[in-house]
Amino acid sequence: MTELGPVAWPPAPIRTERLVLREPEARDRAAFIELFASPEVGTYIGGPRPRDELERAVPEVPGRRPGLFVIDLDGAMIGMITLDRRDAERPGHVRPDAGEAELGYMFLPEAWGYGYAAEASAAALGWFADALPTEPVVLCTRAANDRSMRLAAKLGFTEVERFEEYGAEQWFGVRSPVTPSG
Ligand SMILES: CC(C)(COP(=O)(O)OP(=O)(O)OC[C@H]1O[C@@H](n2cnc3c(N)ncnc32)[C@H](O)[C@@H]1OP(=O)(O)O)[C@@H](O)C(=O)NCCC(=O)NCCS
Repeated sequence: MTELGPVAWPPAPIRTERLVLREPEARDRAAFIELFASPEVGTYIGGPRPRDELERAVPEVPGRRPGLFVIDLDGAMIGMITLDRRDAERPGHVRPDAGEAELGYMFLPEAWGYGYAAEASAAALGWFADALPTEPVVLCTRAANDRSMRLAAKLGFTEVERFEEYGAEQWFGVRSPVTPSG
């Protein structure tokens, strides 16, 4: 994971119909720990991490870095969206020089099934398209992760390839930049 690149960070909080995308704050710490400790969240992304380890390791203000948005519903964190540069050593690329912007999403299980991840991801992609309009965005998910696969399709990602990684089939997709017409 490398820096996102020439973008102004942090942007002003982004408001959607129901949500706010913003920088992490100290009050989000418990939700960060919950996200990484949740067996449900971890099912397709390497499993949960021990809560006591997280309690020791997570800083007072967690996750503050370019490309990481906390998703806030009525003042409380329900998940996060990330836009990072994809490591060149990993399989799955659409540019010869690699380092593509890659979307990630993780929401607390009680916030699944309401369209919040879709709403927040669309807003983050909109922000990225304004900042770096010519760049595609890629996404990699376990093919068995039905919710993630449905979300990727809804957001306009299309399959580039599938490959084996971490002992499972991975789906790798791209969302091309919208080219202005006329
Ligand atoms: C992947 C993940 C973010 C998807 O969350 P999600 O809530 O299913 O995704 P969406 O925001 O697209 O919500 C879709 C659901 O909301 C429902 N919904 C309810 N109200 C809605 C509304 N107002 N607008 C849109 N959808 C709505 C949809 O019908 C759909 O339900 P269904 O899945 O039962 O068909 C979530 O499962 C997660 O955090 N997983 C763990 C982390 C992970 O695996 N991340 C992927 C790493 S690559």
